[in-house]
Order: sequence, then structure tokens, then C-alpha cells
Amino acid sequence: MSIPSTIREYRSQGDNHQNLKIQQAPLSKPRASEVTIKVHAVSLQYRDLIVSKGRYPGQKTNVVPCSDGAGEIVAVGEDVKGWKVGDRVSPNFAVDHIHGDVTEDIKNTGLGGQIDGMLREYINVPSHSLVKIPEHLTYEEGATLPCAALTAYNALLGPVPLKGGDYVLVLGTGGVSIFGLQIALASGANVIVTSSSDEKLQVATKLGAHHVINYNKNPNWEDEVLKITAGRGVDHIIEVGGPNTIRKCIKAIKYAGQVHIIGFVSGGDSGIPVGAAIGKAITFRGILIGSVKQFEDMNRLFIARQIHPVVDRVFSFEQAIDAYSYLESQKHVGKVVIKIA
Ligand SMILES: NC(=O)c1ccc[n+]([C@@H]2O[C@H](COP(=O)([O-])OP(=O)(O)OC[C@H]3O[C@@H](n4cnc5c(N)ncnc54)[C@H](OP(=O)(O)O)[C@@H]3O)[C@@H](O)[C@H]2O)c1
Repeated sequence: MSIPSTIREYRSQGDNHQNLKIQQAPLSKPRASEVTIKVHAVSLQYRDLIVSKGRYPGQKTNVVPCSDGAGEIVAVGEDVKGWKVGDRVSPNFAVDHIHGDVTEDIKNTGLGGQIDGMLREYINVPSHSLVKIPEHLTYEEGATLPCAALTAYNALLGPVPLKGGDYVLVLGTGGVSIFGLQIALASGANVIVTSSSDEKLQVATKLGAHHVINYNKNPNWEDEVLKITAGRGVDHIIEVGGPNTIRKCIKAIKYAGQVHIIGFVSGGDSGIPVGAAIGKAITFRGILIGSVKQFEDMNRLFIARQIHPVVDRVFSFEQAIDAYSYLESQKHVGKVVIKIA
């Protein structure tokens, strides 16, 4: 395959996604420890909206946005072992997070935030960041895995993995939450999904959710969760809501349950109510995506259960701004994808 010396890429000045600019850029040869990937698809996260507004901690100026992509290797550096041209791959969200705990240095290798990301036609990445895309997935599906799926996997099957028969509560039907639903179901849990919309809840039910609650129609949804669990509360919560949902989650969790602190889509600025947390001996665990090792473990589950990510809509490379607007509108269930090649 001939590799171009000039490619197209987007850049963000942090002044809103409407101002994302496409430009031409040179493509260098991969360094000895790198591979060149022809990017086929990219998926969007809530984080990409934050980066586009210039509000992501430590973000690079004039950054190439987006953490999540999938493509094929088109060139291999001279010291790279174990990878070859034609392999279907994704780089991990933080390219240096190979295994174990995250560190400050690792955090500073986040694609599309601290370093240039995936919203471009080709990228050079270190080979230690690579994970193979499961064979049953298309590039569009594979592009959804690095951030949202791995975050949900790290929460539910991390240091305190869920057990079959556990109750898992997922808030909303965005990217992380729908993966939380799928991973929990595949691991034998009972799943409760909340959402702003009955139509979205129908999708969750079709995917296998055991119980669904519309949090707009039922603002005291935490009481409903307690009713469903016969007063016991749930074992794990995918907490993407943040300050405005945390108190409800403390009510909905069982004694000594696991609240996975992931996001802040519900807004607000209150802290964790300490007394209530102590009173139920709750574990709060902040999640920061995951490692290459966890990504590989997760893919084994996706392969074993033939899980297909829920791709809501696919936009073209030229429509990237529309894709961001669609994500921002929160009309989606699961993932919004940009097809590049
Ligand atoms: N810590 C990490 O490692 C990590 C990794 C990935 C994402 N995150 C964070 O997790 C959050 C979700 O990210 P994402 O990419 O999955 O977002 P997303 O795909 O944009 O999903 C957002 C969804 O959140 C739901 N929502 C909005 N307000 C809500 C509320 N008050 N209560 C419950 N649900 C609400 C909506 O679904 P409904 O209309 O169905 O309610 C909305 O579609 C973000 O804050 C993101 O920054 C963190």
C-alpha cells in the first residue's frame, strides 16, 4: 500500500467544536518503536466536547482531537515486534498505560487531550499502545472500545468484579452506560437502566436490561431502585451523573456497595456527602479509563459473548462537526462514530 506524505487532520483551538478546522499535515515515517495506522473510524466521547471547549485539564493547544479510533497498520518501525502491516488495531486511550495503575506521566499520554489524537487519516503510535480489534467487529464498532467500553469494564470487572446475580445500576444511555449494560449482562448481572427518554429505554430493554426507569417522569428513581432490589440496593453503580446524582446513588447502593465515579453529565458542584457514605460503608472508586492489559481482557469477553457495540449513527470525516453537534444534543444511545477511510 502506498502511504501518503501529506494527510488531512482536524485541529481544535478549544473554542467550540463548530470551529474545528481541517488542514493538511505532513506524515512522517514511524519511529523505530512505532507503527503507522491508517485510521478507518473514530468514535466520539463526552470528553471530546469538553476538549473542544478548551476545558479539559492539561489539554494541548491546537490539539488533534479524539481518543478513540480503529484502523489498519500500514507501516512498522524497525524495532517493532509482534505487529505487521494489515493488522486491525486500536491504540489505547493513554498510549503509555500498558498495565497496572495510572500515574501522572501515563495520564499525560492521553490521545486527543494531552497529546494529538485520532481525528486524522493516519497516525504514528508506539507499538506498546496497540490492541487487536476483535474479528467479529467492523472498524466502526472497534473504534468505540478504547474509552467508553474500557471505562465500564474497568468499573465492573476491575479490582472488585461483579458476581453473577449482582444488581448493576447504569445512569443514562450514553456510551459508557450502554457498554456498562452490555458488560454487566454478559457477566451475569441484573441490570437497571435510567434515562431521560422512554424511547431510549426501549432500546435498553431490547439490549436485555431487566428494569428501566425514566428519571424525568420519576425524579425519585433511587426509591424505585430500592423497590426493585427489595430494599437491599444495588451492588455496583456506573455513576456518570456526578454531583447532581451522587446522593441518589448513595441511597440506591447496598451497604458496602461499589459506586464507580466516572463522570459529571448531570452537572452541579456539591461534594460527596461524607456522613451518608460512611453510614453505608460505601466504596467510591474513581475510574480513569484503563490499560492495554485490561483492554485485551475486555476484548476476550467481547469475543466470547460476541458483543457488538451499539453504534447510533455514523458520520463522514467531512461531517465531523455535525457528529459533535449530534453527540452534544444527547439524542444518541450508545456511540456516535466518524468514518474516515
Ligand atoms: N472517568 C473516565 O475514565 C471516563 C471515561 C469515559 C467517560 N467519562 C465521563 O462519563 C460521562 C459519560 O460519558 P459518555 O461519553 O458516555 O457520554 P455520552 O455518550 O455523551 O452520554 C451522555 C448521556 O448521559 C445521560 N445523562 C444526561 N444527564 C443525565 C442525568 N442527569 N442523569 C443520568 N444520565 C444523564 C444522557 O442519556 P439519557 O438521555 O438516556 O439520560 C446522555 O445521552 C462523562 O461525564 C464523561 O466525561 C469518564
